[in-house]
Amino acid sequence: MGGDDLKAEIAVIGGSGVYALDLLQDVEATVVDTPYGRSPEVIVGKLDDRRVAFLPRHGKGHTVPPHMVNYRANLWALHELGVKRVLATTASGSINSKMRPGELALLDQFVDFTKRRPATFYEGGERGVVHIDVTEPYCPELRSILTEAARELKIKLHPRAVYACMDGPRFETAAEIRALRRLGCDLVGMTNVPECVLARELELCYAAVAVVTNFAAGISRAKLTHAEVAELMATNIERVKRLLFSTISRIPAARSCACGKALEGAVVKV
Ligand code: HPA
Repeated sequence: MGGDDLKAEIAVIGGSGVYALDLLQDVEATVVDTPYGRSPEVIVGKLDDRRVAFLPRHGKGHTVPPHMVNYRANLWALHELGVKRVLATTASGSINSKMRPGELALLDQFVDFTKRRPATFYEGGERGVVHIDVTEPYCPELRSILTEAARELKIKLHPRAVYACMDGPRFETAAEIRALRRLGCDLVGMTNVPECVLARELELCYAAVAVVTNFAAGISRAKLTHAEVAELMATNIERVKRLLFSTISRIPAARSCACGKALEGAVVKV
């Protein structure tokens, strides 16, 4: 593998605490130029006969805070490498008492409270205007493979979680968490939007596994700390990786979902 022809079909976007995928073989790092002001470094390797890319969402060494992640550059870089399926991890606080720290949950819906992030590749001009459908924001095929893999590995995975995305980088107030609970949100985090939406605009399949790292503000009486989030991620990371690797090996070559047609009917034509 090497040079410009470095390609991958599946990608993992690693969130907080997921900075490498050590089971990949023949790994190579490549810097992918994008039109979005950043050229992410992506690791490309092999898992059996599949080519897999790995991209740490917050950059090498977690140097970029959630509200400043260049989500467009990240997704664009994966698309440039030929990626069609994306599996993401995301550290999340829990609003739902049934989703406990240390457990995993599959995102099913999101509610977007971000205010300051470029959230589309289509800003008019030559690229035009697109209104993408996000009725079902996460790929149903990837979700069912993840669920199946978790069942076989006997890893507890909550099958459906509604994720509230906040700008951060601060944690929430207790009142914000009470409001989010009333709105039906199970988890809260700072990164899944617009990542998930941008994947859809590129017609990629996208699924996200949340690692519950803490009870959200005001549920736990204790002060929230990033140290607590990092510690929980560290103790759960091996399980998440096992789930991802087992999932990757089960992904069929051809897609049977509608994610590859997400742009059909979405483009504004005059
Ligand atoms: N709030 C927002 N983002 C998070 C949290 C939280 O409680 N835990 C991990 N990421």
